[in-house]
Amino acid sequence: MQHLKFFILSSLFLLALIKGQAQPGFVANYDESKVPPYTLPDVLKTTTNVAVKSKETWENVRRPEIIKLFEENVYGQMPKTYDRLTYSIKHENASAMAGKAILKEVVIEVVRNNKPLKINLVLFVPTKQKGPVPVFLLINNRGKDNTDPTRAKKSDFWPAEMVIDSGYAIAAFHVSDLAPDDTANYVNGVLQLYPEQLTANNGMKAIGAWAWGASRALDYFEKDAAVDAKKVIVVGHSRGGKASLWAAAEDQRFAMCATNCSGNTGAALSHRRFGETISRINTVFPHWFATNYKKFNNNEDALPLDQHMLIATVAPRPLYATNASKDLWADPTGTFLSLKQAEKVNALYGIKSSLPANPPTINQPVVSSQMGYHNRDGEHNLTAYDWSNFIKFANTHVKK
Ligand code: GCU
Repeated sequence: MQHLKFFILSSLFLLALIKGQAQPGFVANYDESKVPPYTLPDVLKTTTNVAVKSKETWENVRRPEIIKLFEENVYGQMPKTYDRLTYSIKHENASAMAGKAILKEVVIEVVRNNKPLKINLVLFVPTKQKGPVPVFLLINNRGKDNTDPTRAKKSDFWPAEMVIDSGYAIAAFHVSDLAPDDTANYVNGVLQLYPEQLTANNGMKAIGAWAWGASRALDYFEKDAAVDAKKVIVVGHSRGGKASLWAAAEDQRFAMCATNCSGNTGAALSHRRFGETISRINTVFPHWFATNYKKFNNNEDALPLDQHMLIATVAPRPLYATNASKDLWADPTGTFLSLKQAEKVNALYGIKSSLPANPPTINQPVVSSQMGYHNRDGEHNLTAYDWSNFIKFANTHVKK
């Protein structure tokens, strides 16, 4: 009996560890009445307290200021230069998916200081479509078999057939090409090209590296006439959704961002301390964010920012965020509030803000608004339902 109890408890602990939710002594708050009072920095007020009333002041002063705050305090710097980017097509199939798509397996090679890095990109382009097509790019943080180029295995995490049928190209790369997702090995990727990042307190770590990789995929799209590099939609789920948001913030060439169940240090507000917190994320995943971010462990009130400001930097480009009803860890309410706070940037561009005043009910996607949102019924995941709404949203805001 004792043995059985021990076995069950240790299995549960192991499971929590795998899911990344175990931290001795950490108890997540799931009670709205226990959210402490907090004050968010205003997206439309500069650090010197000047009200931002025009898109010029937004673009020239406030937006760069916000990006800097996130580089300095959260995700670290984003290296913008390299010595060389080349690519080769490892494998091509002109009649993939029973003739519906062209498959390209691309190896992107980036070189800096004589150090090379290879990023493997899988790309399907619809054959029916004439001219360059918009493309969905997934930052894949789950198994590589989710993006199987042979299509022997199909997965709703990357429903390539559905996306192709909707007239979009679809691409993906795996995070491990940029930074393996563990504390010991994250350095064995792009950080080898930028070793100065490793010693800087504001140096990028894994999430920054994955976002950097998304931009290199975009560099490749600019060289491939089959896709429209001005219509690249960067998508990520959970930790990948934190990276897709950071990629879209840092690289304004991305036409749209989809951040799925991205939660803490993704789309949700940290000041709320609901579900996952900064100290929890920095403790269990010390290799994700810049060293400086640890200053805010159990110290949210000292943050000169919150995630609504990051969302604001994507505006006026369309952004779609999601949650799942059973995924309180990622704070659905805090995600919606974050979007609401960021929405006012669109008004500077004369774009009407049309998110509802309160979070929409479960399975009620808001797709007409420039900032879209849904809270899907179910668990923490990226599903065909989520993708179908990204497509609807992109049909309105990107494809046109
Ligand atoms: C953990 C982590 C989250 C992350 C998630 C995931 O639960 O705490 O921040 O979003 O893993 O990537 O699935």
